[in-house]
Amino acid sequence: MGITIFSPSPTIFLIFFIFLNFLNAQSASPPSIYDHLKHNGLPMGVFPKGITDFSIDPETNRFQVNLTQPCNSDSEIQFHYDFNITGILSSRKIANLSGMSQQELFLWFPVITIRVDDPDSGLINFDVGVVDKQFSLSLFETPLDCTAIDPNDSFSNYQEPFKFRSTETVEENKLRAIS
Ligand SMILES: *[C@@H]1O[C@H](CO)[C@@H](O)[C@H](O)[C@H]1NC(C)=O
Ligand SMILES: *[C@@H]1O[C@H](CO)[C@@H](O)[C@H](O)[C@H]1NC(C)=O
Ligand SMILES: *[C@@H]1O[C@H](CO)[C@@H](O)[C@H](O)[C@H]1NC(C)=O
Ligand SMILES: *[C@@H]1O[C@H](CO)[C@@H](O)[C@H](O)[C@H]1NC(C)=O
Repeated sequence: MGITIFSPSPTIFLIFFIFLNFLNAQSASPPSIYDHLKHNGLPMGVFPKGITDFSIDPETNRFQVNLTQPCNSDSEIQFHYDFNITGILSSRKIANLSGMSQQELFLWFPVITIRVDDPDSGLINFDVGVVDKQFSLSLFETPLDCTAIDPNDSFSNYQEPFKFRSTETVEENKLRAIS
């Protein structure tokens, strides 16, 4: 006798539970574009850092990103991002992409589709129209640093994406992409 075991009543548990949920709701912010990418099994680093202005249609998954400045990525693989990037997000895929291009041999190729066919392979595919390029997923773990370029400066190192089809160059790109 004489020993009382502390046994909190269910009400206290309930109040505690409600309080935890309240805290959770306070800290939950709306998902970022990076959350949407992650949610769809894509790496965050396909897009530049600091995107805040974006919208996504919950029905079609069509998204629009407005950057504050067009920019060129400072990454190993050179990407250019326009003011406005649009595309359709689905599981491990961004389709109908516009506003993003990749530099190769001093030429800019518009990126049309980004896919992760098999996450276990550690590879990501960029369809640039003339060729499907594969890169290591590990290069895209975090959003890319991106240097703003003056949209008025036509002599910056960015030229409008230029479409061409030459089998010779395709082969060359394929080799570079694979190696
Ligand atoms: C982007 O800019 C367009 C045109 O000004 C605007 O309609 C849109 O609301 C902006 N933001 C997003 C997230 O699309
Ligand atoms: C593109 O983005 C810029 C800057 O965020 C915005 O002012 C412009 O209206 C957008 N254009 C379109 C077509 O959405
Ligand atoms: C996406 O692109 C395909 C092929 O270019 C086109 O047929 C389709 O209409 C596009 N979808 C949307 C929603 O823009
Ligand atoms: C670009 O040009 C427009 C119109 O010519 C001008 O209003 C704007 O300030 C310029 N932007 C920069 C960054 O120079």
